[in-house]
Amino acid sequence: MRGKICGIGAYAPENFYDNHDIAKIVETSDEWIRERTGIVRRHIADEDTTMSMAVKAARAALENGKVEAKELDLILTATITPNTIIPCVSCEVQKALGAENATCFDMSAACAGFVFAYNAAQAYIASGMYRTILIIGSETLSNIVNWEDRGSCILFGDGAGAAVIRGEEGEVFPCVTHSDGTMGEVLACESRHQKGWEEKEAAKQTYLSMNGKEVFKFAVKKVPEVIEELLGRTDYVKEDIDWFVLHQANQRIIESVAKRMKIDICKFPMNISEFGNTSSASIPILLDEMNRSGKLKRGQKIVIAGFGAGLSWGASLLEW
Ligand code: UT7
Repeated sequence: MRGKICGIGAYAPENFYDNHDIAKIVETSDEWIRERTGIVRRHIADEDTTMSMAVKAARAALENGKVEAKELDLILTATITPNTIIPCVSCEVQKALGAENATCFDMSAACAGFVFAYNAAQAYIASGMYRTILIIGSETLSNIVNWEDRGSCILFGDGAGAAVIRGEEGEVFPCVTHSDGTMGEVLACESRHQKGWEEKEAAKQTYLSMNGKEVFKFAVKKVPEVIEELLGRTDYVKEDIDWFVLHQANQRIIESVAKRMKIDICKFPMNISEFGNTSSASIPILLDEMNRSGKLKRGQKIVIAGFGAGLSWGASLLEW
């Protein structure tokens, strides 16, 4: 048994900050942000929460896949910005959808979250434990961004994406994942729910902090490696792959990966200019956009790759 994406959906808040809006908050410019990141604007939640966006993306994915909420065996939400710690976002999604047969829990794997959730879904389906799984990436990063730090606040946006994965007979594709906890401090955010949180809050430790250069170096080295490792476990070569759908962190990271791997950049779709970095939501938001625009055709081979805080990274091969 393998899991196949049979429905995809996404949601982003209407409200957005373009680079000129950001330049009113910190010392930066539209030109600098575009040149260094490829970002033009990012959606920022106003009324929406991680949960409400997760529900909207989930509904869109169910509708796209013509799947009833009651058919779901598992709801797995990847998020680092849950608006409630308990109950988990997935349980709230279950309540909103009426997915009474689903088991629900959340996963914290930052920008690798969607790929890790996808891999977990594959493992559950292969084991026979669950057959129909809803995975979601939903983030309200604007709540944890340090809006005084121009080195990071320019990058992030809010949004959600979801995929319904259904078990079926067919070729099983590999997944590869890695983590390196020794590098955790390069992209960190402490919980507000701990003793001494006031001091940590004042020191901005409860907001996202990032060593951009280190994360950049990590990404451009590890992403090509993990894709090579993934394809090495198959009979496919990179020329067989139709799309490389990478976590949208920085346009220069994606261009550098394409160059290092000697793959045409046209095979690396991007929408970072519109959304910024939406962490666990970036890959399903992009897949949904590609699907709706007719770029994705059944039978195409796609590599998805995620990377980020942990540090964690991974890649999966799938057939659309
Ligand atoms: O999902 C994973 C999440 N994180 C990432 O993917 C982040 C990966 N890293 C990056 O995307 C890049 O490192 C950044 C976009 C964050 C920064 O770009 P960079 O080319 O690495 O810039 P830098 O940190 O080396 O800074 C270069 C200069 C510095 O000035 P000096 O010291 O050369 O005078 C910074 O102070 O640019 C300055 N700078 C800015 N200037 C205008 C840093 N941020 C800004 C800014 N506007 N927003």
